[in-house]
Amino acid sequence: MNPAGAAYWRQLVRAATERGHPMRVGALATLQDDQPQVRMVVLRSVDIDLAVLCAYTDRRSDKVAALQRAAQAEWMFYDAEAGLQLRVAGTAKVHLQGDAVDAAWAGLHAGQRREYQMATAPGTPLEQGAESVSEAAARQHFAVLSLHADRLDVLELERQQHRRTRFCRHSQWAPEALTP
Ligand SMILES: Cc1cc2nc3c(=O)[nH]c(=O)nc-3n(C[C@H](O)[C@H](O)[C@H](O)COP(=O)(O)O)c2cc1C
Repeated sequence: MNPAGAAYWRQLVRAATERGHPMRVGALATLQDDQPQVRMVVLRSVDIDLAVLCAYTDRRSDKVAALQRAAQAEWMFYDAEAGLQLRVAGTAKVHLQGDAVDAAWAGLHAGQRREYQMATAPGTPLEQGAESVSEAAARQHFAVLSLHADRLDVLELERQQHRRTRFCRHSQWAPEALTP
């Protein structure tokens, strides 16, 4: 990672690990049949060396179906106090099985696991008295999303002059100053 860009990636690492960090939650945009869809998602982990961000979700959700059809996604984070907007664009993958998914599930507490225990899928009509499934069955609803970044677009709001910088994987994350 180029040192200029690494500073922003480190911000994202802090966002993923520090409680209450303003960039812990970001807006994840996907495409569903050419229609943009955006929703807030918690940033769970960041691998700076690979430039990969991860979130957890329900595999039955619309975003998973959307990403399985069109993997391009953008995840946007904003720290209002710092006047910092980070937009990470790249290719998303949905992980349903494997050690990393098992470890992520194992790291959730009971309250977090309950979010995956609804018998009905997210976004479907809520049935009266809808059953919830067992915790073991809920594991089958759990998925890890990873975003393999190709581009980081940084906007820093400054009193005098805003600054915008783009970092791309194909140019080894070298900074490119842009008109804000
Ligand atoms: C602050 C906040 C954090 C959220 N975090 C997550 C999350 O980490 N994972 C997730 O799947 N949904 C999360 N949601 C819910 C999503 O925004 C969304 O409503 C849900 O996942 C269904 O989205 P979809 O139908 O586009 O897939 C969060 C919502 C809010 C408001």
